[in-house]
Amino acid sequence: MGRIPDATINEIRNRVDIVDLVGRYVQLKKAGRNFKGLCPFHDEKTPSFNVSSDKQIFHCFGCQVGGDVVGFLMRHENLTFPEAVRTLARECGVEVPEEHGDAAERGISEQVHEANEIAQRTYVDALASAEGEAARAYLAKRGLSGDDVRELGIGFAPDRWDTVARALAARKVGGDLGAKAGLLAERQGGSGHYDRLRGRVTFPIYDVRRRIVGFGGRALGADQEPKYLNTPESPVFRKRESFYGFPWALEAIRRSDRAIVCEGYFDRIALHRAGLGEGLATCGTALTREHARNLKRRTQTVVMLFDGDAAGTKAMERALEVLLPEGLRLRAAVLPDGMDPDDFLARHGADALRAVIDGAPDALELVMGRAAAFDRASPVAKAEAVARVVPLLDAVASPVERRAYVRRFALHMGCGEDEVLAELHERRRREHAVPEDERPAVRARRRGPADRHTAILCEALLRNPTLATDDVRAGIERGLEPGPWRALALALADASRAGHVDAEGEIDLFRVERDLGEEESQLLRELTTGDALVDANAAPERVVADVLDWFARQRAAAERRETTRRLELGGDAAAQLIAEKQRQLEERRARLRAQAPAARGVAR
Ligand code: UTP
Ligand code: MN
Repeated sequence: MGRIPDATINEIRNRVDIVDLVGRYVQLKKAGRNFKGLCPFHDEKTPSFNVSSDKQIFHCFGCQVGGDVVGFLMRHENLTFPEAVRTLARECGVEVPEEHGDAAERGISEQVHEANEIAQRTYVDALASAEGEAARAYLAKRGLSGDDVRELGIGFAPDRWDTVARALAARKVGGDLGAKAGLLAERQGGSGHYDRLRGRVTFPIYDVRRRIVGFGGRALGADQEPKYLNTPESPVFRKRESFYGFPWALEAIRRSDRAIVCEGYFDRIALHRAGLGEGLATCGTALTREHARNLKRRTQTVVMLFDGDAAGTKAMERALEVLLPEGLRLRAAVLPDGMDPDDFLARHGADALRAVIDGAPDALELVMGRAAAFDRASPVAKAEAVARVVPLLDAVASPVERRAYVRRFALHMGCGEDEVLAELHERRRREHAVPEDERPAVRARRRGPADRHTAILCEALLRNPTLATDDVRAGIERGLEPGPWRALALALADASRAGHVDAEGEIDLFRVERDLGEEESQLLRELTTGDALVDANAAPERVVADVLDWFARQRAAAERRETTRRLELGGDAAAQLIAEKQRQLEERRARLRAQAPAARGVAR
């Protein structure tokens, strides 16, 4: 294979911005002159992955990998050097001389991408041709400018059986490959292939690497069924994780630190036209866990923008159940009168659409309010509301947030928190079927008195962050035995002292969990999902004092036992002990002497 000229490689390095490239895969935050994020190359909970915009390099201080744009893509996508260079070259429009390899030797994915590229050019050309006149009129009628159409790569699949089939054949791409890409379907009887999308406006669907993975097609005729037809799943098109809107949205998601998720192609386009580049649409499927993870990798906040009708509400609640476990902050924008975002833009304009999204309320709060809005007095309606909301409460990733939502829901419903908690526990018992004696609190109880006391302490701190004073922290450090429980107690104490509490005064468990090891996280989960260990009637500050007292007594008792043991041993051990005690006494005197007389006056 011919070497890629250095000048070409340098040209690519100049054109591709490393912050932009890395930002597609890693959630980056500005930190001084650099950007910081969680390293994609090793597991970490605190960001040690740095990207320098000035130097156009990345470096991880955790695992020591680093390099430039090409190096990043090679490592991240597991590409060879020329592959990474070619990928970047394609997206920044630098020509790289073609290699002369045999097409069959290259990966099937790459061939499918190429077939899709050929189809894309065919569709775009068709839209521009005389044949595309009706489609152009349709797009104009739907409010798209020529620039929108070009930028989004929208095309037209003519109402014929062989437009793409011919285009592929002309480029020596076989029908089988076209079928693998989902562009063609096999004729009955197996004699050749025909175009799948016909008489439709086409939307290219890209992955984050700017490769076309599939197409959506909107029927041009009013009575044409189905209204939307997508190319099927293929080696490169996995609908469970694909979004229509990549890669345009990547940069906007990073800038706005949020993604807007909607349901339709035209809805995503409406967002784009309203200046909201961070919009993404699922490709004819419901939102899945894979979608959720794909979002989570890029942002913390997702605004859900679903149609303002019953179906839209239902879809939103289902999406919520999928997104909540990822610990995303979720907001829900509600559109009036059964409008979808595209209708809304047409009717009310871009400012109004932006206002709805910027003002989107907390999604779970919204669902809870709606559920409770039905007849609260009727037991049946109440039970229905609870049945609708409890699965969502169960899906909330952070235990502290869950508890805050439980409180809010109890308020909405005009019932006690304990009622909601009972429902939640009941559901857990049913859904997760954890045997009674395996329930977390019971497990904690089995761990022996020291762990049990620490668990109680942790729970008290968790519920009352203000109790974590310097003295309490020192008490924990002094009194508790090293281990995961102690680590957790210290983390909780530190979190509240560092001000990592939410608006409700609850500890921000996202922050805490980020720095915890696996074992400590597990303990935290047990603590927050299990039955309460702390007696609800006890004053929390008493509980904390009692626990620390207990540890102090344990320590004193252990020291006494040790002293006795050494005295009983007699001889050297006893002499050593006496010398030790004497030295401790001397030290204490010296400390007292060193203190200012005034301070001593206060102390005594
Ligand atoms: P809608 O029926 O809500 O259509 O489908 P829409 O987006 O408002 O479309 P317009 O405005 O009438 O053109 C929402 C999404 O559901 C998928 C498509 O992804 C569509 O964008 N869908 C819908 C299908 O996959 N097939 C269909 O037949 C209909
Ligand atoms: Mn619509």
